[in-house]
Amino acid sequence: MNVMVTGGCGFIGSNLVKWLRKNRPSWKVVNYDKLTYAGNLENFKELENDPNHVFVKGDIGNRELVDHVIRSHKIDAIMHLAAESHVDRSILGPEAFIVTNVLGTNVLLEAARHAKLNRFLMVSTDEVYGSLGPTGFFTETTPLDPSSPYSSSKASADLITLAYEHTFGLDVVVTRCSNNYGPFQFPEKLIPLMVVNALHDRPLPVYGDGTNVRDWLHVDDHCSALVTALEKGKKGGVYNIGGNSERQNIQIVKAILGLVGKPESLIKHVTDRLGHDKRYAIDATKMKTELGWAPSHVFEKALAETVKWYVDNRPWWERVMSGEYKKYFDTQYSARLS
Ligand code: NAD
Ligand code: TYD
Repeated sequence: MNVMVTGGCGFIGSNLVKWLRKNRPSWKVVNYDKLTYAGNLENFKELENDPNHVFVKGDIGNRELVDHVIRSHKIDAIMHLAAESHVDRSILGPEAFIVTNVLGTNVLLEAARHAKLNRFLMVSTDEVYGSLGPTGFFTETTPLDPSSPYSSSKASADLITLAYEHTFGLDVVVTRCSNNYGPFQFPEKLIPLMVVNALHDRPLPVYGDGTNVRDWLHVDDHCSALVTALEKGKKGGVYNIGGNSERQNIQIVKAILGLVGKPESLIKHVTDRLGHDKRYAIDATKMKTELGWAPSHVFEKALAETVKWYVDNRPWWERVMSGEYKKYFDTQYSARLS
């Protein structure tokens, strides 16, 4: 089996590539990534001499290169993770989200269709469903109702992928998962950002009153779910993936402060995110009953391990936080924190 992982140098992609090399050792993994600010080749030190991990620097929008990679590596399936992935950045500038998430996905689908690939796994998100009130869960039949430029671009890609099955018969599977956490996450997302700020004794910027709820999924559980969906998912199937771990943001921020031994006085409530979704909660029954998958990590224990990973791997995040990240941080937070 030769699999092309797009976005393999990002947070989930790099965990997935390593998961595949460990758990599917006979597979060749072609890691196709543009190396935007979020892509980091330093995540692969242990795979440096691995002949079954091939890195190709490229944009998913480059049809010629995508075709060449599919042909030259005899690709059987694509696991498509490449995306602009951060909601706050999509509010500051939506265009890159449309270009990569919508148009880029379409380029890959066209390439997959013409090459007659066996399977195209589209990694979508629970954010395509929009926001929930205090009760209820997203199921696979919940109507899509995205709120941000990010989630709208993902919803477009998700629907276009399903249309390629319906119209052209391409073998696609779509997964919609909840918020991931774990090692190698870029420190612009809630958990690593709060750890890093706490370690620097900087304010921890909580949007609004901090009662927004996310359902947290450990990245290793997400990787096993993606491979399960790739191997066993039904053609044209949609699968929700969740961690059964709903928490308010403020609970997470306080837990992180406790884990690194810093005072709650570092918490700073700041202006809310525009259009901020209140609550996401996943019903992942279909993954369990149809494909036999369930998450295995217990949130509090896995959060403590994750926080320890950031404490122990300071050089990793210090390097990724230089350059562009610093500019982004100033634009995003300077007015809110003053
Ligand atoms: P990330 O931002 O950490 O990584 C994205 C990767 O895609 C980077 O390596 C980047 O270089 C690459 N990339 C961006 N544009 C590209 C392009 N045009 N061509 C090729 N490569 C490009 O993202 P992540 O958190 O690892 O998310 C991976 C996928 O999972 C995304 O599709 C995201 O929408 C989805 N997802 C993420 C979460 C989460 O909590 N992180 C939850 C649900 C779904
Ligand atoms: P984030 O990690 O950006 O993921 P998403 O918006 O895709 O769910 O944010 C998770 C939650 O944390 C979300 O409700 C916004 C909130 N948040 C803050 O309160 N402060 C921050 O600095 C960030 C980045 C997020």
